[in-house]
Amino acid sequence: MARSTAQRFTLVESHGDVALASFATEVERGLRTKPKTLPCRFFYDEVGSEIFEQICDLPEYYLTRSEREILDSHADEIAASFERRIALAELGSGSSAKTRFLIEALLRRHGGLYYVPIDISRSMLEASSRELLDRYEALEIRAIASEYEVGLQHLRTETETPKLIAWLGSTIGNLGHEDAADFLRTLRAAMSPDDRLLVGIDLRKDRAILEAAYDDSAGVTARFNMNLLERVNRELGGRFDLDDFEHRAVYDEVKGRVEMHLVSKREQRVAIEELGLEVEFGAQETIHTENSHKYDQIEIDTLTSRAGLGTESQWLDSRGYFSLNLFAPAD
Ligand code: TRP
Repeated sequence: MARSTAQRFTLVESHGDVALASFATEVERGLRTKPKTLPCRFFYDEVGSEIFEQICDLPEYYLTRSEREILDSHADEIAASFERRIALAELGSGSSAKTRFLIEALLRRHGGLYYVPIDISRSMLEASSRELLDRYEALEIRAIASEYEVGLQHLRTETETPKLIAWLGSTIGNLGHEDAADFLRTLRAAMSPDDRLLVGIDLRKDRAILEAAYDDSAGVTARFNMNLLERVNRELGGRFDLDDFEHRAVYDEVKGRVEMHLVSKREQRVAIEELGLEVEFGAQETIHTENSHKYDQIEIDTLTSRAGLGTESQWLDSRGYFSLNLFAPAD
């Protein structure tokens, strides 16, 4: 008899032994420094994760559509590079919408699959896992609700091999080049020779296309960025008036990155009660909240060689906007 949905599902909620600074500590540090910053890993609370799903559907946000096109066209080829049943681990799985192409291809190829989605949003993990398990009877899921750093520790102990680690959506672009190489090297250290790493990396392109992708006409990305201030209000007794701030996205062509900022529209002081802090803003002063790096081929090659990886395959979408890269440990 087929195993029930519940029998095929485990959820681990874990904060591991990785010491990550709390929201309060990071907010205090970020708003005391100049220029002011807020770390992007706090975007993805329950509200933020929901808004991000809406970003993925925006006409201007080409990244999701381009990556989906590549996965749709090449998932079977990716599956065919594994001779036997594998474990598929995914960092930042979100709704797992794009991953379905991979899941289906792997199920077609091997008849069964062990899927390990890792995401900060527990509710997103539960909802997407339930849907996947209802749809695919030969799927088994061990979901890990945690930060990447903790998820990685779990990956190291996943003994089932070979495994494919997927890191989609150009989330790697949210790290600087050096941190990106370091993180890939950490992933590399958790890989056996037969394991593979599948990474979505967004490419350098026209400024207008890039800036629209991070500042859409419906204002969804603005709301996503602004949610950081709302989080400070909700969780730390912040007194930010959202009407006094605006979202800004600018492409820095030299650095090859879109920078996201929250701009103070006027001179103001904002209290954050739980931190016992009053933050002063000048007119047009910004809080830098995120970078999204765009790569060219040379930069991708530098990244992989620094990380001890080699490129086994690379695919682009039909417009050449986005790359999906299959990396193997280099010896
Ligand atoms: N990984 C996504 C990207 O860099 C994250 C993202 C999309 C994002 N839109 C954003 C981050 C707006 C901050 C603000 O494309």
